[in-house]
Amino acid sequence: MLNKVKEIYQEIEQWEIQSKDNLEQFRLRYVGRKGIIAELFEQLKQVPQEDRRAVGQELNTLKDFALQRFKESSTSLENARHEEIEVPVDLTLPVVPNLYGTQHPLTIVRQQIIDIFGRIGFSVADGPEIESDWYNFGALNFPDNHPARDMQDTFFVEKKSEGAPADLLLRTHTSNVQIRLMEHQRQNTAFRPIRAIMPGRVYRNEAISARAHCMFHQVEGLYVDRNVGFKDLKDTLYHFVKEMFAKDVKIRFRPSYFPFTEPSAEIDISCQICHGKGCNICKYSGWVEIAGSGMVDPNVLSNCGIDPEEFTGYAFGMGVERITQLRYGVNDLRLYTENDIRFLRQFQGA
Ligand code: DAH
Repeated sequence: MLNKVKEIYQEIEQWEIQSKDNLEQFRLRYVGRKGIIAELFEQLKQVPQEDRRAVGQELNTLKDFALQRFKESSTSLENARHEEIEVPVDLTLPVVPNLYGTQHPLTIVRQQIIDIFGRIGFSVADGPEIESDWYNFGALNFPDNHPARDMQDTFFVEKKSEGAPADLLLRTHTSNVQIRLMEHQRQNTAFRPIRAIMPGRVYRNEAISARAHCMFHQVEGLYVDRNVGFKDLKDTLYHFVKEMFAKDVKIRFRPSYFPFTEPSAEIDISCQICHGKGCNICKYSGWVEIAGSGMVDPNVLSNCGIDPEEFTGYAFGMGVERITQLRYGVNDLRLYTENDIRFLRQFQGA
């Protein structure tokens, strides 16, 4: 009997209780009323009278030992369970800050412009930012030494020879892509209508301030086909501003001058910030200029090998920063390039 007690003692010592199921097995085997220790107590009656007391004592110690192991293991399992569950749902912990990136506001607005024009059949075209004088000026009907070239202060990259006009420059507008698109269509045997918008970055040699920057973004538009008229230009731009801003936005076409369009117009919309009450964005006029536009000058069509007697087209060019300013009330052009996350975060989910 004493040997049996010793054996069980060792068994208990070696038993590692790591799970609830395991603990229950332990309980049934040693602690429970039908367990082996209880059985030994039953058998105590058969032990000779003179040994019974000593064996009984051993059995009691064994029983206490088993009980103690059981209790210790069950509390430590319980604690481990609490640790596991309580840490992730501790509501007193500070909130983990949201570190998701955001899209840049200009990217958001550029995409909105692309989507709006995309829905009415405009594709998207791209062109180089380092451009030759011909694509940026010459083909667009800016004669050499014409004062209209001074409308856009240019960064020149490379001069052909000393004293000669620079040939390579940073494009001052996205109108260069118009020329490339029209030229490209010469590869087709028959004329295919061109209907595209051309988003891109442009550069001008200007001091950086809240209202001017040496680098900004435009979206150019071009539609060339038979029988394209000024009414098509008006319709398209009116549709665009209603989609981009509000259904009740007002639009006006102001006569203007660009070498590459005839007639030309600048496009104003009713101020989306003050809604006509007067603010410093519309300079208290209630109107804000968003784009230049016009009918493609016949000279420009001929420069690209398109017969102006047969085809006509309209073009427009708008500033993405200006449209973003009106959509989101951004007042200082420098905010777009400073990468201040307090500014950028405001566009999360926009
Ligand atoms: N390129 C002009 C600018 O940067 C904007 C512009 C005006 C584009 C009239 C056009 C247009 O396509 O037809 O100031």
